[in-house]
Amino acid sequence: MKAGERPIGVFDSGVGGLTVAHAIRQALPGESLIYFGDTAHLPYGDKSEEAIRNYSRRITDFLIGYDSKMVLIACNSASASAYETLLGEFGSKTLIMDVINPVVEYVTSHNYRKLGVIGTKRTISSGTYEKKIHDASASASVYSLATPLLVPMIEEGFIFDDISNAIIRTYLSDSSLNDIDALILGCTHYPIIRNQISKFFNFNVEVIDSARIVAQRLRVMLEQNDLLNKGRAGEDLFFVSDYTEYFGKIARMFFEGNINLQKADIWR
Ligand code: DGL
Repeated sequence: MKAGERPIGVFDSGVGGLTVAHAIRQALPGESLIYFGDTAHLPYGDKSEEAIRNYSRRITDFLIGYDSKMVLIACNSASASAYETLLGEFGSKTLIMDVINPVVEYVTSHNYRKLGVIGTKRTISSGTYEKKIHDASASASVYSLATPLLVPMIEEGFIFDDISNAIIRTYLSDSSLNDIDALILGCTHYPIIRNQISKFFNFNVEVIDSARIVAQRLRVMLEQNDLLNKGRAGEDLFFVSDYTEYFGKIARMFFEGNINLQKADIWR
């Protein structure tokens, strides 16, 4: 197999990374994907950094076992907790990419005055977005808010109903988000409720969703390493550490129709 024909490994705690995998599929239809959703350990957002690092290590090793030319950490909580670790431990075997740095690059190349970030408890308490945005000496002030109910809500399929509307409204009414000109969706699950979030702000706030930004950065990284697939895409493979009906439903929605979904109990 030529180097470029190898798949791109993508992982998240559950369905969230599918938003990024879908954007990659749209931007780079020639690439094949191996997706791992760690549904047995979901949600990552309330786990310790150490636990998330350990899960991420094992999953990266699994994806490298499928000869992945790149492993994309399609989860903000794992990007905040494990990116440097994975880069140090696996960077000589495959390309490692996270979802936070591309968004930081994007926002620092725009002139925002006040930015909001919403994410899991793990991502927000790490302060990664603020630190990286300030290190890049962007002038924007950054206000972060943990919104921990959103991932379980989405994974349970509460998306377009009274429950989800009430939770979204309660979180986004927080005074720290008054007057923002853009909101970073600092969790890859949140693009699934992007419309409801935009609607809360009467479509007056730019909602920055990492999926498209990450897919564009990923293309550049593959080009720079001469790893774009010039041939035809192979079959996408989807793995979960525990089978949930909802995962199959969402994966079929993003990837239209029959998907090859298997359970892989990689912790046994
Ligand atoms: N999609 C993950 C993220 O971007 C969700 C984390 C979780 O499982 O709590 O942070």
